[in-house]
Parts: sequence; C-alpha cells; structure tokens
Amino acid sequence: MTLHSRVCDILGIDYPIVLAGMGGASGPELAAAVSNAGGLGVLGAAACGPKQLREWIQRTRALTDKPFGVDTLLPASVRRARDLGASGPTPADQLSDLQTFARDFMAQEGLGSPDAVGHRQMRDTDEPPLFTAEFFDAQMEVVIEERVPVYASGLGNPGPWMEQLRANGTKVMAVVGAVRHAIQVKSSGLDIIVAQGHDGGGHNSPIGTLALIPQVVDAVGDTPVLGAGGIVDGRGVAAAFMLGAEGVWVGSAFLASKEANIFDFQKQAIVDATEEGTVISRSVTGKPARIIRSKWTDLWSRSGRDPLPMPYQGMVAGPVMAAANRDHRGDINPGFAGQGIGMIRSVRPAAEIFRDLVTGAERALARGR
Ligand SMILES: Cc1cc2nc3c(=O)[nH]c(=O)nc-3n(C[C@H](O)[C@H](O)[C@H](O)COP(=O)(O)O)c2cc1C
Repeated sequence: MTLHSRVCDILGIDYPIVLAGMGGASGPELAAAVSNAGGLGVLGAAACGPKQLREWIQRTRALTDKPFGVDTLLPASVRRARDLGASGPTPADQLSDLQTFARDFMAQEGLGSPDAVGHRQMRDTDEPPLFTAEFFDAQMEVVIEERVPVYASGLGNPGPWMEQLRANGTKVMAVVGAVRHAIQVKSSGLDIIVAQGHDGGGHNSPIGTLALIPQVVDAVGDTPVLGAGGIVDGRGVAAAFMLGAEGVWVGSAFLASKEANIFDFQKQAIVDATEEGTVISRSVTGKPARIIRSKWTDLWSRSGRDPLPMPYQGMVAGPVMAAANRDHRGDINPGFAGQGIGMIRSVRPAAEIFRDLVTGAERALARGR
C-alpha cells in the first residue's frame, strides 16, 4: 500500500510527511533534503531576522525545486520594541536578578562571562529586537514578499495574514495543542491543522499526542490534520493515521540527521538519551517546552524561580546557551527534543530517515488492516 492522503495534493508532495519547523534546527539543508525526498521541508525560522529569513528561503530554493514551507511564531500577545525594559509586569530588577543567577551558574560551570560570548546571530543588530511585535511583522513581510509555497504558524493564529498569503497562493498551516485553538485557527480558513501533543519536542501542549489527535480531528470537520509529537518511526506515522490524521509533522526524528542545523554534541545527546531523557521546562524561553534534561533545567527547577515572559527569559538563558555551545557542553545545552528520542540510535542522512518513515508506515498500516 502507498502512503497517500489529501495533504499530498494540497501541498504538492509525494508523501504526507512534513518536517516540523524547528527553530534554527530546520535550516535550508534539512528542509531541502526532506522536500527532495518527497515530503515537505519546513524552515524553522522562528528566530530568523528578516535578512536571514530571506537568505534561508533563497538558499532552500537553490537546493530544491520542490515545495517547501516557512514556520514562524505569531503569539497572541507580544511587546512592542519600545516597551522592552520599561517598568511594569517585568521590572528591570527582576531581569537583572535572574541575569545574576545565570552568571553565577556560568561561573560555577566554568563557562566564560556572558559578555565574552557571541550568540549565534540570526538577526542583524539594526533589525527589530527578537520576539517583539515589530520582529514578527518583519518576518511576515518577507514570507509574503518571497511568495513561499507554504506558511506554518508554530504558535498563534495566522488569521490576520490570510488575505495576503492567499493572494500569493501560499498554503497555510497552524500548529495547535488544544481543541479550542484548532477551532480558532480553522475559522481563519487555513488549509491544514497540525495537532502537536505533549510528547513532542519544543513548546508543546499539556495534552498527550494519543488523546489530542482524534479530538482535534473530530473538532475540525473537513480540514485535514497532521499528527505530531513523539512520532519517530513508521509505527508512529501509522498510528497518527489510525487516529484520523492525514499526515504527520515530524521534528526530533530529523534532529539526528546529518543535515540538521544543530551542534554535533547535541546530535550525540539525542542518540545517548532514553525515553526518560526529556523534561518540560520554562527555563529557556519562558514558555513550557520539552527539552533534554540538563544541568540548567535541573538548577532552574531546584531554584523554584518563576521564569520571565517572552522575550525576557531568553535574555537570561541566551548567554548560558551560547556559552555552552561555544564549549560544546551537551550537559548544559543538549537542546529541545521529544520523548521519542529513545528510539533514535544514530545520526543518519535525512533522506534515509524519511525513507524509513515511509516504508515503516506502509508496513504497519498493511499489518493493521
Ligand atoms: C529543537 C526543536 C525546536 C523547535 N522549534 C520550534 C519552532 O521554532 N516553531 C514551532 O512551531 N515548533 C517548534 N518545535 C516543535 C516542532 O515544530 C514539532 O511540533 C515537534 O518537534 C514535534 O514533536 P517531535 O519532536 O516529537 O517530532 C521545535 C521542536 C524541536 C525539537
């Protein structure tokens, strides 16, 4: 039997397997490899400034002539750049207290001072500050100008941008973690809804994948659903189909690929981890995210501190993560990943991972009938 659904026709792809937009990790090489294999590669552009985003889109176009997508975040409530640092719900002293906490941790771990560490820059200094309203708007302007084949909002509702996206012929998807969000985004008239459950890597839902997918499928009527969260092999793809999904949105399985834009020590952390290796932590971005357990997540949970909202928590954790990257410290920044990583045994080319997902799913579905 061949793995095929309406999603293939909507997106113009051979198999309904979509590379999840993983911020920074799903770069042009990985996205193009998945698209070239017959799926849809989606750029994880959440933290890309507008210039970097345009470059990524252009590089992806140079690497594949197949459809691809761009994933960014569209949070419902965000700060404007001019309000950063203003007093209010996040007073400057709270930020500086947590920055001291982070600096103490770095000293204890023998990491260089944050000032000496360069972040892996994804935005130019003359561009709007990360995760402000102006930043998200500037990203969307590039998505629209570049007429990308597919746009996915990893967080929030693409509704306000639908008219312009539609005028370009861009197909639109949104990632949700609850039925009420699925109903909200469906009202914007998008093409595909991604139901991402608690098992998944990165920002995620409190609802488990097995329970979430069928409830979203039932709630959204004729809009096709991709299942996500903890799907790492063909059995997971087949299970998503059994739950009513018409395709899958796969992240972590592709993190341990040669093409993934993460550090080798992070790929090794995935290979080494078991199914117990991840935790939900707000220590990195301020929002609950599934991440490989580390000294930083442990310290944060022991400290009992409340994280700051986006984008402030990133200003606390960013220098720690950057220093850990510089020093190749997998014990401090192993990265976001889902619970399925216990099944990952080695780092392989993305095309091979993709082929195994397809053949494994076809086998499992044939067995299940
Ligand atoms: C390293 C990493 C980064 C992620 N960054 C984003 C992101 O920027 N935007 C987004 O929509 N989802 C992001 N996610 C969530 C993925 O899009 C996807 O929903 C998740 O990986 C699915 O679960 P899985 O990892 O078990 O396959 C990220 C996930 C990981 C593992």
